[in-house]
Amino acid sequence: MRISNNALVTRLKGLGVELRPGVSLAEKTSLGIGGTTDQLLLHRYETIPEVMRLLAENQIQHRFLGGGTNVLIGDGELPWVVLHLPSAHPGVRIEGNAAFVDASADLGGTVTFCAKHDLGGMEGLIGVPGSVGGALRMNAGAYGMQIGSYVRETELYRAAKGEVETIRGTEIRFDYRHTSFAPDDVMLRVKLELPSKPYKEILAGIRVCNEKRRSSQPLNQKSAGCIFKNPAGGSAGRMIDELGLKGHRVGDSMVSERHANFFVNVGNSSCADMLKLIDYVRERVRSSYGIELENEVIVWRN
Ligand code: EPU
Repeated sequence: MRISNNALVTRLKGLGVELRPGVSLAEKTSLGIGGTTDQLLLHRYETIPEVMRLLAENQIQHRFLGGGTNVLIGDGELPWVVLHLPSAHPGVRIEGNAAFVDASADLGGTVTFCAKHDLGGMEGLIGVPGSVGGALRMNAGAYGMQIGSYVRETELYRAAKGEVETIRGTEIRFDYRHTSFAPDDVMLRVKLELPSKPYKEILAGIRVCNEKRRSSQPLNQKSAGCIFKNPAGGSAGRMIDELGLKGHRVGDSMVSERHANFFVNVGNSSCADMLKLIDYVRERVRSSYGIELENEVIVWRN
């Protein structure tokens, strides 16, 4: 979608919004898949409600894109613009055992920054790509931990009310790769409370997780991490592997040879091909195991 209304562009600029026309979202996502649209960079949190009102008045659909590491975006010209939160100097501020983190901060960088202040607990998240906001929304987790356990407060834009609000961690439900945030809530900042641990000990934990990840996941290929959630008590990756589907391809979308729940873009894959591969694998698992796999990756169709 292109914003062609000059009056609107001027008003957006006045709110500190930077407009980048015709951006390829394939370049903004870890899968390397996605069509083209205008990108709006919001440089000031406090203007978000006003920006949202302006877009609604002008019937411009939008999506917030974080790190782009867990999303599969449609091909071609997209019917909505993408919004990005301020990311020039995303901050992490430490006060005792609390870390105050901007949603656009890099997750791995945040884990390391906290570790240097002798705050641990999030070692498992090292190597999980993406932003803190994305991790929070999805309740990212690995190696027995999940970020939700450490959330004490979240500042978010509540689209339903058109307001910025701060809510307590106890008001949010964190389940396996799912939270009680509304789909159109936008994470802005989070307060984490982390256990004290000596830096060296955290570093040792980080090394172990890094090693496990390197040996089992295709880290140097374009992917969105795991495509499916694990079903209760089971493993999507193991089932897909048992079906002999590693290496199975639709166009340039392929089930990873290394981890069967990672689907990789081995060249110039389209979203359509990735969706065909997802549907094919889901159907094979359903007919062999009687289990309906649920997407872990977020799909933005056009
Ligand atoms: N397995 C296979 N073949 C495969 C892949 C896995 O047999 O191709 C087996 C493994 O040998 C193991 C079991 O399946 O016995 C589970 O595999 P793994 O330990 O790799 O964990 P996972 O359940 O596949 C989950 C998360 C990952 C996270 C790891 C490590 C989900 C959907 N995935 O994977 O998160 O990194 O545990 O904690 O919950 C993600 O969310 O995108 C993600 C990658």
